[in-house]
Amino acid sequence: MKTLASVRKGKRRSGLTRLACASLIATVGVAACHSDRGAELPTSGASAERGRQRIEAYGCGSCHMIPGIGDATGLVGPSLENFGRRTFIAGRLPNSRANLVRWIMKPQSVAPGNAMPNLGINERDARDISAYLYTLR
Ligand code: HEC
Repeated sequence: MKTLASVRKGKRRSGLTRLACASLIATVGVAACHSDRGAELPTSGASAERGRQRIEAYGCGSCHMIPGIGDATGLVGPSLENFGRRTFIAGRLPNSRANLVRWIMKPQSVAPGNAMPNLGINERDARDISAYLYTLR
């Protein structure tokens, strides 16, 4: 992408960054383009503490490094450190609560063939797990 290449060269960075954001919005259909995005508070009614327990029960840590979860040192998937500040989920979906619940319940529908299996997670668990992941900032 021409604008991104120009941004990397450095000069007039902020103007070009804005341009790059605009073209990203046009390309991906993202509603906002700000580096501090993805910052969402836990779903109302969801329990981050219960989510933490569900993460341990499902064994997410066998594939992910997850702060605050015992034995979560997996290297199959990306580290979930600072997940609450991430702009995208798996580089595909804008990081919103609804999209995170969708990803946790059905990663194979979002990205068929990726290495994260559908684990049969129900919506309540997915919402609580999301609440925990958004505490990671
Ligand atoms: C068998 C390994 C495996 C297990 C188990 C697993 N994941 Fe993943 N996960 C992955 C992989 C691989 C990716 C990257 C997928 C991609 O980018 O296409 C991923 C991506 C993610 C992402 C997006 C990360 C990012 O950087 O955007 C989240 C969030 C996530 N997983 C949460 C979970 C949760 C919560 C659990 C447990 C309920 C879990 N995963 C269980 C392998 C796994």
